[in-house]
Amino acid sequence: QTNVRRVLSTERAFVESLPKRKPFAHKGNHGRGLVVGGNSEMPGAVGMSAKAALRAGAGLISIGTSKDVASIIASQCFEATFQFLAETNGFLTDETEIPFHNFDAIAIGVGLGREPQTRKLVKRIVHDAQCPLIIDADGLYHIKNELSVLKQRTKPTILTPHPGEMARLLDITVSDLLVNPFRYSLEFAREYNVFLVLKGKYTIITAPTKEQAVNITGNPGLAKGGSGDVLTGISLAMVMQGQPVFRAICNACYLHGRSADLQVNDSNSERDLMATDVIDGISKVYRTYT
Ligand code: APR
Ligand code: MG
Repeated sequence: QTNVRRVLSTERAFVESLPKRKPFAHKGNHGRGLVVGGNSEMPGAVGMSAKAALRAGAGLISIGTSKDVASIIASQCFEATFQFLAETNGFLTDETEIPFHNFDAIAIGVGLGREPQTRKLVKRIVHDAQCPLIIDADGLYHIKNELSVLKQRTKPTILTPHPGEMARLLDITVSDLLVNPFRYSLEFAREYNVFLVLKGKYTIITAPTKEQAVNITGNPGLAKGGSGDVLTGISLAMVMQGQPVFRAICNACYLHGRSADLQVNDSNSERDLMATDVIDGISKVYRTYT
């Protein structure tokens, strides 16, 4: 492949480009983000994304979910506000107006579930959100047959699949994908005009303009449900603060993995690390550099 610029996502780039808090900063300087997700069977995911975003530096986070899910997670997320969305039988539907103009970036997908009724909500957000949009987990499931809609978006779109989700989007097997993950990522990112974060032991970050980076922070303690939801929240926090998107998502992957590494070094082990510990570890990473 010609003109591919491939780099390692490094500590130095992370430290030099992190959004700083100026003395006279107010919350509006650090972005307003919306996390859409959750269903009655998976209420926690969207709460973890929101908390991770706030820990990572987000100015304001709103959680778009059902009243039922909100009542379960609200006591764990005092700092977030809620945007109640309509639901049927515990799964979100498309019947609520969302004030998209209130947000600098949106993340959709964690804990959404795969009910057909939720697909219209995902499609509408992809179509109407005039701000950077992160699509993860069940959000990726729902857009599988609507990928061409992504090409019409005028603001950046960021997809964060694990290999199983990516293979499904491409209609290939995971083993085929992993024979050449760099090439598949490049082709997909260019075809659909998206930033792609292909997650794994080594995470490959690809821009539609053919830049690629590899992130090597993180450890097998992250191989546990919820880790991905935390990365989604951190990514939202980085993207909504107005950094160039490629840098923002490289920073998010670096921070997520480094947090897990510091926790395993001095508080946890790879066995007992939980996604909420990765949220707490963000503070340790930041304190290293200030
Ligand atoms: N080494 C380093 N990093 C790792 C490792 C490892 N061995 N294992 C996992 N990670 C990191 C990945 O790079 C990624 O950032 O942990 C994160 C895991 O993300 P996901 O695979 O999305 O996991 P998660 O979302 O928490 O749980 C599975 O995904 O398929 C959906 O709906 C399904 O809810 C389920 C969820
Ligand atoms: Mg996931």
